[in-house]
Amino acid sequence: MGQDYATLRVPASTSNLGSGFDTFGLALSLYNYFTAEPSDRWSFEIEGEGENLPKDQENLFAKVYIRACQVFGVKASPLKVKMINHIPTARGLGSSATAIVSALKFWELFQEKELSVEEKLRIAFEFEPHPDNLLPALLGGFLVCAVDEEVHYQKLDFPEDIRIVVCIPDFELSTKKAREVLRKEVSLKDAIYNLQRASLLVSSLCKRNYHLLKEAVKDKLHQPYRKELIPGFNDVLESAYSSGALAVFLSGAGPTVASFCLDGEDRVGSAMVSTFEKHGISASYMSLSVDKEGATFTKPPA
Ligand code: HSE
Repeated sequence: MGQDYATLRVPASTSNLGSGFDTFGLALSLYNYFTAEPSDRWSFEIEGEGENLPKDQENLFAKVYIRACQVFGVKASPLKVKMINHIPTARGLGSSATAIVSALKFWELFQEKELSVEEKLRIAFEFEPHPDNLLPALLGGFLVCAVDEEVHYQKLDFPEDIRIVVCIPDFELSTKKAREVLRKEVSLKDAIYNLQRASLLVSSLCKRNYHLLKEAVKDKLHQPYRKELIPGFNDVLESAYSSGALAVFLSGAGPTVASFCLDGEDRVGSAMVSTFEKHGISASYMSLSVDKEGATFTKPPA
């Protein structure tokens, strides 16, 4: 399959960037690939990560596609979908956002109808209300998102010289579980703390004042609670900083830890891995750059 059918490449994302809880998202150069063709029933062939995901219409891709058909009043003809997944599932790297975005992009392709970003997000939100993963997967780049009835967003330039080292522990953590540990209410003091640092993060990146990034990613809204679910989190952060990282934070809902680096990516990655290992958790790292394109139709990977 796939010779005559389009393949869609959708990037991973890291979200929050510490202080920008539910606000910042950054697309990464790690991808899932989707190929789809019309069929008489829903079926999925999954290679790589997420091989245990449902292979029928219970798959998230199928659910989103069918919902889009309902919303726009068209017949939900089934597809045969092939996925080649490089993004580990349930690690805070936006893998489910790639399935949601790809279902909507294939819906547009097969229905020959372009949806606006807002129309796509309205459907996507029924499945995952996190624009900080969905928008980077769709558009690429560094996204600042604000949600009420609508989603307001800006795509900003991200410094080309910063690489993102992600250290991926060998266990899954569902976003649901990682949100259940959060507090429903926060103090004014903590809200101000994050507001100050999230603003500082955007201005430091825009002005390339990298020495401020370590302070700018500090957070009091989610990491202090989520770190209880991630053995060794504080030590992993410290090991990345002592190896030269500019900024270190939990990637999305975790358990992946991400570091911004100007150099020494292998040193930082190895330090994070060995610190996780000291806490009995096996892990691996990848050094990535920012994806600027978002979901893009392309050829299948070689
Ligand atoms: N901002 C969301 C969270 C991302 O941290 O829960 C979930 O993918």
